[in-house]
Amino acid sequence: MPENAVYLKEVYFTYDGINMVLSNINLTIKKGEKVAIMGENGAGKTTLIKHFNGLLKPVKGEVRILGYDTRRTPVSTLARHVGIVFQNPDHQLFAESVEDEIAFALRNFGFPEEVVRKRTEWALNVMDLTRYRKTSPFLLSGGERKRVAIASVLSYNPEIIIFDEPTTGQDYFQKQKIAQLLKLLSLQNKTVIVVTHDVEFAVENFEKIIVMARGRIIAEGTPEDIFNDMKVLKTARLLPPQVTECAIKLKRYLPRIRTQVTKVEDLFSEIIKYC
Ligand SMILES: Nc1ncnc2c1ncn2[C@@H]1O[C@H](COP(=O)(O)OP(=O)(O)OP(=O)(O)O)[C@@H](O)[C@H]1O
Ligand SMILES: [Mg+2]
Repeated sequence: MPENAVYLKEVYFTYDGINMVLSNINLTIKKGEKVAIMGENGAGKTTLIKHFNGLLKPVKGEVRILGYDTRRTPVSTLARHVGIVFQNPDHQLFAESVEDEIAFALRNFGFPEEVVRKRTEWALNVMDLTRYRKTSPFLLSGGERKRVAIASVLSYNPEIIIFDEPTTGQDYFQKQKIAQLLKLLSLQNKTVIVVTHDVEFAVENFEKIIVMARGRIIAEGTPEDIFNDMKVLKTARLLPPQVTECAIKLKRYLPRIRTQVTKVEDLFSEIIKYC
């Protein structure tokens, strides 16, 4: 069994044959890792993750997912191992009711009806959707539709789970629930990849962040490394978390404090050094 969930070597991609949307991407994500991908609009984040289930193939370079070369593996095989919850749930939903939506993928993968029923029930419950089971997904709010898309991917238990902007349109309570879900998936040794613009969410829930700008990976590291690298932040148009920003401002008055902090507790420890 390969150790790597995702392995990309010198990957290039273009939609129109002229403009490179991905350039020289080298990336390894190990099995069981939990990583966030961040970067400005149009950086190529969604294009990159579409390479992880073979929906897009590189024009140059190599993409291996759990050891499978995506150019030589049918998308149907990859889909069983890699679940993607897309940025816009409306591109993913089509069934007449929420429960049918969830059951569809399971039936498609050939699970027996008994398993389909059990897993649908479980996914409805986990994503707090049981009361909408008979409702058409199209009558739900944007945040609820996103949860239906998440539930249908969770239901078939893929090894690699990718979320493109899972917190968009979610209130604080649902955001916390998504964070718990990511933790749970990680505990189950799933590989979890999340594309997000939400700096606070990334800092609180990830130990590794990959930063993209103009089709390239420009940095990889801990939130502390990334959010203290002003050059990276500027290039990728990222703002530091509020705690880091506060530390940077405080340094004017407390010159010995470390600004490599992304958590309130760490900033507190720095400040009490002065007391
Ligand atoms: N289907 C497509 N056909 C042609 N160009 C595309 C297509 N999808 C994306 N692009 C272009 O590729 C580039 C990267 O787009 P992509 O959606 O990967 O960015 P992103 O980092 O996910 O941005 P965002 O943060 O806005 O979601 C953009 O310039 C975009 O206009
Ligand atoms: Mg995107």
